[in-house]
Amino acid sequence: MPLLLFAIPDQEAQTNHFSFGVPNLASLILTHSVDGEIPGISEAPPEEQPPVFIVFWAFRVMVGIGLLMIAVSLTGLILRRKGRIYTQRLFLKTMTRMIAVPFVAVLAGWVVTESGRAPWLVYGMMTHEEGLTPSLTGPMALFTLLGYILVYAVVFYVGIYYLTRVVRNGMLPEEKRETEADNSRRPMRPMSGAETSFDDDLDPVRN
Ligand code: HEM
Repeated sequence: MPLLLFAIPDQEAQTNHFSFGVPNLASLILTHSVDGEIPGISEAPPEEQPPVFIVFWAFRVMVGIGLLMIAVSLTGLILRRKGRIYTQRLFLKTMTRMIAVPFVAVLAGWVVTESGRAPWLVYGMMTHEEGLTPSLTGPMALFTLLGYILVYAVVFYVGIYYLTRVVRNGMLPEEKRETEADNSRRPMRPMSGAETSFDDDLDPVRN
């Protein structure tokens, strides 16, 4: 079985369009043998298949991000060895962009498992449809949804505000890292990161 890197799954026609992959790699990963076989999704009756397009692409977004994270980490390691990790602008810019990336991967992973399990809540025993609470009305669901949106709007805003402050404060400049006095001011807990400024003019502790 090939490991498909790209395809447009067409669930209605039970086929993939424009598929492109590495021959035998899926067999090797899943069965540890180059010609191993495992049952494909099309062997399940269509009414028991999950929404293939969503699962297919959410999985690739997640894994793609995982590989990107590995690549960026390795690049960091190489730059560190060469003593250029704090001065390579493109790398530093990439690192700040990478802050958002794990959030997307977590959501994509979650979509993979939740929609990949469909239509089952408990495989072979209970479907999503059977799991619906009969007494739950539309307005009740809407009320809960609005509650979640409200709470998350606050939590998310505070989180972004906090992270932005930590990132803006940045790291302790290299020349200031050596003395013991400076080290004692370095935040040891993530929460103190947002309170401490390493800029001498702004730091209330030093002035
Ligand atoms: C490096 C490549 C990666 C591979 C090969 C991979 C593989 C997988 C697989 C096979 C699953 C489904 C597990 C199951 O069937 O229950 C999964 C789920 C998940 N993955 Fe990934 N993953 C990768 C990267 C990532 C990254 C970078 C993140 C987040 C930073 C992530 C977050 C998740 C989450 C949140 C789930 C759902 C877990 C659950 O709901 O049980 N994955 N991953």
